[in-house]
Amino acid sequence: MNKEKIAYDEYFQQVNKILGSTGLLLAAGSPDKPTNAMAIGWGSLGIVWGRPMWVVLVRLSRFTYQLIEEAGNFTVNVPGTDLDKAVAYCGSHSGKNEDKLAKLELAVVAGGEVSSGVIEACPINYECQVVGKSDIVPEMLAEAVKSEYYGQGDYHRVYFGQILTAYADKKAAAGL
Ligand SMILES: Cc1cc2nc3c(=O)[nH]c(=O)nc-3n(C[C@H](O)[C@H](O)[C@H](O)COP(=O)(O)O)c2cc1C
Repeated sequence: MNKEKIAYDEYFQQVNKILGSTGLLLAAGSPDKPTNAMAIGWGSLGIVWGRPMWVVLVRLSRFTYQLIEEAGNFTVNVPGTDLDKAVAYCGSHSGKNEDKLAKLELAVVAGGEVSSGVIEACPINYECQVVGKSDIVPEMLAEAVKSEYYGQGDYHRVYFGQILTAYADKKAAAGL
């Protein structure tokens, strides 16, 4: 893919549509650990602390949680519909047990600014540095949210990832 730099919000509507349907791919890896990806259906692309930011929610049980803790960064990768099955796979299997991206034959390219790799086949990629994190406080949640999403415990850690750079294959992104 031929990618060029984009403004963080250039594909805002398209990205939110995919986030709320099939999901995006959140990836993390360090120099010692290969990049792993999981599906995310929740997140927020916007401005926090005067910085362009991806805010993502990762349950502590995820392998990706361990990787983000180690790496201190992550990438958000926006898939086209050709990757629907791959996203579903990354959202239902853990990198604790296998190298999902290798199995799916999805090439990982080194991030320019972060240790986490980007998924080449995704038309849009964001490289994010963790500049803040916060755990969900059960007592602060509305009962309806708590019972619907946290019946088993397994709360999310909320990561604030400053977008250091974002790029897209504009031809492919036009079809999103
Ligand atoms: C569409 C979709 C959206 C998801 N969104 C999230 C999310 O926002 N946060 C989260 O912690 N898990 C989410 N999951 C679940 C993880 O993707 C799933 O547990 C995955 O297997 C974790 O992989 P890992 O253990 O390799 O990190 C989602 C799954 C799907 C299918």
